[in-house]
Amino acid sequence: MPENSIDSLLRESRLFPPSNDFAATSVASPELYERAAADRLGFWAETARELLHWHKPFTETLDWSNAPFARWFGDGELNVAYNCLDRHVEAGNGDRVAIHWEGEPGDSRTLTYAELTTEVKRAANALTALGIGQGDRVAIYLPLIPEAVIAMLAVARLGAVHSVVFGGFSAESLSSRIHDASAKLVITADGGWRRGKVFPLKPAVDAALGMLAASGAESTVSTVLVVKRGENDVEWTEGRDLWWHDELAKADPEHEAKAFNAENPLFILYTSGTTGKPKGILHTSGGYLTQAAFTHQNVFDVHPETDVYWCTADVGWVTGHSYVTYGPLANGATQVLYEGTPDTPHPGRWWEIIQKYKVSILYTAPTAIRSFMKVGREVPDAFDLSSLRVLGSVGEPINPEAWIWYRDVIGAGSTPIVDTWWQTETGAIMISALPGITTLKPGSAQVPIPGVKVDVLGEDGAPVTPPSGGALVISEPWPAMLRGIWGDPDRYVATYWAKYSTPQKSIYFAGDGARIDEDGDIWLLGRVDDVIKVSGHRLSTTEIESALVSHPIVAEAAVVGADDKTTGQAVVAFVILRAGKAEGQSTEETTTALAKQVTEKIGAIARPRQIFIVAELPKTRSGKIMRRLLRDVAEGREIGDTTTLADSSVMSLISEKFHAASGTE
Ligand code: WTA
Repeated sequence: MPENSIDSLLRESRLFPPSNDFAATSVASPELYERAAADRLGFWAETARELLHWHKPFTETLDWSNAPFARWFGDGELNVAYNCLDRHVEAGNGDRVAIHWEGEPGDSRTLTYAELTTEVKRAANALTALGIGQGDRVAIYLPLIPEAVIAMLAVARLGAVHSVVFGGFSAESLSSRIHDASAKLVITADGGWRRGKVFPLKPAVDAALGMLAASGAESTVSTVLVVKRGENDVEWTEGRDLWWHDELAKADPEHEAKAFNAENPLFILYTSGTTGKPKGILHTSGGYLTQAAFTHQNVFDVHPETDVYWCTADVGWVTGHSYVTYGPLANGATQVLYEGTPDTPHPGRWWEIIQKYKVSILYTAPTAIRSFMKVGREVPDAFDLSSLRVLGSVGEPINPEAWIWYRDVIGAGSTPIVDTWWQTETGAIMISALPGITTLKPGSAQVPIPGVKVDVLGEDGAPVTPPSGGALVISEPWPAMLRGIWGDPDRYVATYWAKYSTPQKSIYFAGDGARIDEDGDIWLLGRVDDVIKVSGHRLSTTEIESALVSHPIVAEAAVVGADDKTTGQAVVAFVILRAGKAEGQSTEETTTALAKQVTEKIGAIARPRQIFIVAELPKTRSGKIMRRLLRDVAEGREIGDTTTLADSSVMSLISEKFHAASGTE
């Protein structure tokens, strides 16, 4: 969050009541809250029956007897892909557009529900022929092209499990994810378009598999399926690599979707946590799809017959799973998918896309909004954005200034804005306004959605008395909740359930600090752990530190997330070099080499904004690095209390160095 954001949140008191016109046609109604409050589990059971097709109806809503391991709709059976595709075609909506896809160079493709269904059926047959069946893991490493959605749905259709790895992650990150999930097959592309250039993907897959082979790990990957997109040259391993288009051309366009248990795993998505190693967050089928569909419909007020919805997230992140692939398609919505960056080839690209497809619902991240603010309203003002009627925000706190700009400039001063709080772990939106119902407060995520129970707890573990701040927790299990960390049940319990649970009650700790006001509205204040959000992308300081210390010249590293006006937070690293190792190198050469190291180990998204070479790091007498003090330095604040510091002169030295380098006083 930008500087002083907490202060400005505390002073924020503007209110935007819903307009009657909007409320008159909105999908959601206040009665949802009443029904959910009267019978929470009954509400979810009805919602699951109403929104999804069950091959075998469930009789049990929730089994929480083995908490915190939940089973939702546990004796029911469904097929996730059938729910997202076939049933819409069978209902007579096969001609409705599912995806308006826009490539970065200006090419485009339109897929109706009938066409998308056929593609997914072909892909499912092709995967079956390659030996993929229920429970097998398939890694997906693709640009944002329709095949990304097709691949996810084809895997889901077979009851197999996908692990989508964001195309911006490095070969090394990809290899650890392939290894952790023991993936049998990788779906990638030659390359994709970004910022006017083709970025290669297949070479990273080759490198990732090479690293695994070199490490002596048993190879689980038997096939690499390659979509042709970038037309860049790629190397080919005969017997392992196959072209996607060849395999699909051979495949039958008919495929019957089999039913799987509601708790059949649907996907693993790796995310950064407090410790170095990314965790494979596991989601299953029936509960996940219920909450993804319910929130997509009600939070965005989706009318599938008339709306054109656009979520700008990549499928490599959870937002792309729940609000590009599963939620919108389960609801039979029409959506836009755009491959590239917002400013390629011109700064108005997004607004041009909204004008072209008459997008009515836009869901994006505060970082994007702030970067548009910086360029100025002339750019969006040059396009017709009058089709927009709901705007959403996700991924990090949205500061009131950005919220107001979003509403005024993009939303013509009248569209409702829904600030949606949730996590990879929660699977779907947990806290948000409902448009047409909630009186909006800029900067607040507002209230839990119907059927979700959250609390803000104080130091003593008891709910605080509003208005007050504390730790945000989720106090009752919810349908889209993670079912575990892949292969590590103990870590699942320790990471999420240890801190606030009592012998009587399992309580999920989200890692965020929040304030609850007199009306019960929730204001997110950022993470209280070592997770940082850069442009809404989740990174762990520990993970970046281990990337840095893996470089031979580095002795020690400390990374903090510092406020950044555009990206929310930015990575700032403090590094101690090994004596004699970087001799003859200029500071600039050294920091460039270290930045490259982070890019190679994790990906360009984790590249530090600044790296400071220092002689000491501030440590407590017990040797713990005091990141809080480093954050003060990185954000240019007066340095806080240093009395617990082993050597307090360290801080003034670091701070002098920082200010000299960044040109601040
Ligand atoms: C943060 C993204 C404030 C929060 C869907 C959370 C938010 C983490 C918001 C999860 C919001 C997400 N307001 N903070 N509306 N949405 N966050 O797993 O710190 O990438 O814990 O999921 O993002 O990030 P993740």
